[in-house]
Amino acid sequence: MIQLKHVCKSFDCLKTFVVDDVSLRIETSEILILLGSSGSGKTTTLKMINRLVEPSQGAIEIDGENILACDVIALRRRMGYVFQGTGLFPHMSVEDNIAIVLKLMGQPIKKRMQRAHELLDMINLDPKVYAQRLPEELSGGQRQRVGVARALAADPNILLMDEPFGALDAITREELQDELLRLNRDLHKTIVFVTHDLSEAIKLGDKIAIMHEGRLQQMGTYQEILHAPATAFVKDLFATKDSAL
Ligand SMILES: Nc1ncnc2c1ncn2[C@@H]1O[C@H](COP(=O)(O)OP(=O)(O)OP(=O)(O)O)[C@@H](O)[C@H]1O
Ligand SMILES: [Mg+2]
Repeated sequence: MIQLKHVCKSFDCLKTFVVDDVSLRIETSEILILLGSSGSGKTTTLKMINRLVEPSQGAIEIDGENILACDVIALRRRMGYVFQGTGLFPHMSVEDNIAIVLKLMGQPIKKRMQRAHELLDMINLDPKVYAQRLPEELSGGQRQRVGVARALAADPNILLMDEPFGALDAITREELQDELLRLNRDLHKTIVFVTHDLSEAIKLGDKIAIMHEGRLQQMGTYQEILHAPATAFVKDLFATKDSAL
């Protein structure tokens, strides 16, 4: 369970807040969608959960433990992070990118490569063709899939995913969405997933948290939000199911 308690983030000494008093709770094995317009504070919120960004105020707890009290390396190993725009290391091969966390954990090379190839199979990239390539030798969608594989390498309980399927064609996107639902169902991963796309949010989210200008507008199931939108912003957003921010 991940809990945010009155979390605020300011980059200008508390003059303005890009995340403003956000409190929310993500149950274990749940998929929470962070949905919001550009600049609404989604990435900043996600980064605070694994301490890539420190909150200015408030607290974040994982299973009741304040993350500031955890060793930061150990904390991040419990969480896979898929960066917006993938964030692969350009000078490293695909298999090395996927296995980087396992290397940091001191796993022997044979075991790391075996896991990297298993994950490449899972994301439908033939290891014989793709394992040795550099990220620049992949399409944008293939790079995004490698980013997802890398986040899964150490089998973390929590996955933080920042618009992981943004650059994919509709078919690949559907496939990976289905794969993510399977991971969540079979392996009980807790997932925080950022998107601009309402239909993706509805398909994947057990709950949806809607952000606007740093504030949490509403959080609930799609049905709850649809039937009782809390703000004018949410009402407009849900007026059409196909809307994307
Ligand atoms: N390191 C930083 N220094 C100063 N301002 C920042 C920093 N990081 C983010 N911001 C600002 O914080 C606000 C929220 O940014 P954030 O990246 O969280 O938005 P987002 O909701 O993820 O947007 P997008 O959908 O475009 O990815 C933006 O106005 C951004 O310019
Ligand atoms: Mg973002």
